[in-house]
Amino acid sequence: MTPTAPTEALEQTLALIQPALRPAEPEIRDGYLDLLGEQRAAGSGPGQQLMESAGLARIYERYWRPTLGRLLMGAMGPGMRDEQTIAIEMLDLADGDRVLDVACGPGNFTRAFAEEDHGLVVGIDASSAMLARAVHETRAPGVAYVRGDAASLPFVDGAFDGVCCFAALYLIEEPIKALDEIVRVLAPGGRVALLSSVNRGLVPAPVTNAVARPLTGIRVFGRDEITDALRERGLEKVAQRLSGLAQFVSARRPGR
Ligand SMILES: C[S@@+](CC[C@H](N)C(=O)[O-])C[C@H]1O[C@@H](n2cnc3c(N)ncnc32)[C@H](O)[C@@H]1O
Repeated sequence: MTPTAPTEALEQTLALIQPALRPAEPEIRDGYLDLLGEQRAAGSGPGQQLMESAGLARIYERYWRPTLGRLLMGAMGPGMRDEQTIAIEMLDLADGDRVLDVACGPGNFTRAFAEEDHGLVVGIDASSAMLARAVHETRAPGVAYVRGDAASLPFVDGAFDGVCCFAALYLIEEPIKALDEIVRVLAPGGRVALLSSVNRGLVPAPVTNAVARPLTGIRVFGRDEITDALRERGLEKVAQRLSGLAQFVSARRPGR
């Protein structure tokens, strides 16, 4: 794990980091910028622990994620390629946009954004194993990866034209703080694209969470919890599309 010099995309990413958090000597590990060092941002639940495993990072994109998608959205729900298309449409990407993929895992969406957009695309995640895999799989020059906490994003306000967070809010220990951060780093006119869990049954979400969360580490959001949170934070054009036990949510920051 030899430290290496930052790529141009990493240099551009460093310029978007809040001055107080910007390292004088950036720590580049396995090709990503590590802002956490020994710190662990993800929680200690079984779901989060699993995300630290190099074995899971290797099989995640090919086997784990498509299976998770089927479990959440059913056999007739969107597949991985469809989900990437949905994310790109929700972000309404224009060439040259700066895009942030929060909890990017092995970069399965980050790379799809880089195919559409030749601006800067940044993936941030807490897991070293996932990020090492993401760097290994990424060829596009405009992509940079950062190890950091979704609930305390290191970037300056309004840094990105689009922010995506797919299949992760339900794992993040402090998802509402992560939403605060996603909105904060969104530029005026910027778009957000989210995929998370949603409660569709008769049992209220807090009851489901009390039973399922300690076992799985996964949180189930109430039907309007995420959409309401985005509206309360001033976003407009908030739209929700349900698919089985999942919800796709898009919104826009006013301005421009
Ligand atoms: C299921 S993967 C999602 C990967 C990808 N976005 C997708 O849709 O397939 C969830 C990711 O969330 C990351 N994660 C969990 N808590 C986090 C936190 N507080 N900050 C950053 N990443 C976090 C995990 O490390 C893991 O890579």
